[in-house]
Amino acid sequence: MAFIEIDEIDLTYRNSAGDEDDSGTLALQGASLTMERGDFISLVGPSGCGKSTLLKVVAGLIRANKGHVSVAGQTVDQPLKIVGMAFQNATLLPWRSTRENVLLPMEIVEPHRRQFRRDKSKYEAMADDLLATVGLEGFGDRAPWQLSGGMQQRAQLCRALVHEPDLLLLDEPFGALDAFTREELWDVLQTLYMKRACTVMLVTHDLREAVYLADKVYVMSARPGRVILERDIELERPRKLEHMYQRETVELVQELRHHINIARTDDE
Ligand SMILES: Nc1ncnc2c1ncn2[C@@H]1O[C@H](COP(=O)(O)OP(=O)(O)O)[C@@H](O)[C@H]1O
Ligand SMILES: [Mg+2]
Repeated sequence: MAFIEIDEIDLTYRNSAGDEDDSGTLALQGASLTMERGDFISLVGPSGCGKSTLLKVVAGLIRANKGHVSVAGQTVDQPLKIVGMAFQNATLLPWRSTRENVLLPMEIVEPHRRQFRRDKSKYEAMADDLLATVGLEGFGDRAPWQLSGGMQQRAQLCRALVHEPDLLLLDEPFGALDAFTREELWDVLQTLYMKRACTVMLVTHDLREAVYLADKVYVMSARPGRVILERDIELERPRKLEHMYQRETVELVQELRHHINIARTDDE
């Protein structure tokens, strides 16, 4: 059995409870995808096609109306505990230091929760190690608002990973950053991935980012979203920016763009 199995799911958002004429928004229809443990996949598609919705279904935050989702052999019918998440606009809490922000999941997720108070200095050292891995050595005591946007995003990756989740769900985590910072963070994420060997689902609208990071890219149709194409990315790891200028890679990015354009215009 695959680590993640998404089998023919439909999902409708009911917009207003009690309104009988409201047929809602059909966000996903017949969406299927499977993933092996340790894979890194990217999910791309037209804006509004249901990418974030699909991640939320996998995380168990919302439930599909039809179809079946399982993670690590278990049917997903409640919020998963083995997951770490990071989003584009997720914020760090301004009244906590960067280190305390990174440690937030430890105060919530078992088995850490019980040990956290007793062993606080051990956990703090763990957070500082992780911060150092992403280039934030010595920044643990700073308030988040003292960090640049890129540094805050690095800290958020640490927060998503600190409890060593089996599954990392990333929803446009670098979307709000400038191109140079984003490319730097591709490497940060790649390094973390190669160290932790976790399973990663990355939603992004940046096709170069999708290709740079993933073993496989899935393209979704316009809403109602389903997977219409998958492409293996054969580049060896660690990936480097030069790879992105090789002819095969440029052509692959163009091919993906072409498919998304078709999906978008089919919708109109
Ligand atoms: N909580 C919600 N309530 C109602 N409609 C929603 C909700 N979240 C998303 N939608 C709608 O569902 C569709 C898919 O949204 P989303 O998954 O966020 O797309 P994407 O992440 O691909 O841009 C969109 O039409 C969006 O407006
Ligand atoms: Mg989205």
